[in-house]
Amino acid sequence: MKKNLVGALALTAVAALALGACSGGGREGASSGASTDTAASGSAPASTTGFPADSTVGVALPWLGTQNWKEAETMFNEQLTAAGFKPLVQSADQKVPQQQQQIEAMIEQGAKVIVVGPIDGTQLGSVLDKAKEAGVAVIGYDRLIENTASVDAVVQFGSVRTGELQGQSLLDGLKAKKGNGPYNIELFGGGPADPNAPNFFKGAMSVLKPKIDDGTLKVVSAQMDFTQAATPDWDNAKAQSRMDSLLSGFYADKKIDGVLSPNDGIARAILTSAEQAGQELPVVTGLDAENESVVSIWQGKQYSTVAKPTQDLVVKTVELIQALQKGEALPEPTERANNGKVDVAVYALDPIVVTKDNVKDVFKDDKARLELLK
Ligand code: BGC
Repeated sequence: MKKNLVGALALTAVAALALGACSGGGREGASSGASTDTAASGSAPASTTGFPADSTVGVALPWLGTQNWKEAETMFNEQLTAAGFKPLVQSADQKVPQQQQQIEAMIEQGAKVIVVGPIDGTQLGSVLDKAKEAGVAVIGYDRLIENTASVDAVVQFGSVRTGELQGQSLLDGLKAKKGNGPYNIELFGGGPADPNAPNFFKGAMSVLKPKIDDGTLKVVSAQMDFTQAATPDWDNAKAQSRMDSLLSGFYADKKIDGVLSPNDGIARAILTSAEQAGQELPVVTGLDAENESVVSIWQGKQYSTVAKPTQDLVVKTVELIQALQKGEALPEPTERANNGKVDVAVYALDPIVVTKDNVKDVFKDDKARLELLK
């Protein structure tokens, strides 16, 4: 008996509707802004019978502002072509309406699967409902798609796990580089519309908060909420100006020992700001193992990054697309994540912390990055 994930999710959606009906309108678990009108979502699941092997596959990326998305653009083009599909890969420069239009155009051009890295996890519900109605399968890539039943699967590196690794690495770095505490630190988060960003922060705070509470860590600015720490649009320049203000406002007569940074671009902006303020370089975390940060780590400037290889994500995504093409059931997901409307099947990969100590080992099979370590 063929029972694919799409069918299973349609069932989940029905169960969710039934539960909603029983709960007397209670909205427990739904994220803010979720529509109460769930009737249209998930009612038209993608075909279970497969589709032609040379079909168009759309890939809607949020922007190309960090190395991982540029890698994704190249790798999706190469790997979808190699698998016999016609790739239609686009990016939307952090502009939600542009991403919505790109997805609509992909539906019109007959894409059978659309892979989406959403700019704003909550803003694609109606265009993805259209995709579902047209029988298109939708796969979230690197980021969760929120508040809609019109999503079949998500492929990503565990986002809370990524944050835990960042938090732990900040603590380890402080111990290794800054003597005995207490340590003065500041906290940065990513773009608030990106569903990963609050999860990265949550994971990091699960490690850091107990150390703040016991006095080992001191957030001198007291800016500890995600909303205070977030960096709009993941914009490095905005992070740098926040860091400039923190240093001039709170550290004129103090040393800063460490900074939680959600990714590598922001890490380098923080380091530049600290350098310009005449501070000894703080321990700074990161994410993505971008080339410039791999070099910085090797030179002993940025303390760590977290690697989440784009190659692994793209390979996994193409695997799912091939299963859908053949009309096969998708493999059992690693976990299910509630997206505010349904529990989405998530294929979660494991991120890895990288410091100067293990960088050569982590990248022993990554020629391009290994080349940087000379
Ligand atoms: C990705 C990171 C990336 C960030 C900004 C996040 O959703 O997981 O790899 O650095 O977006 O582009």
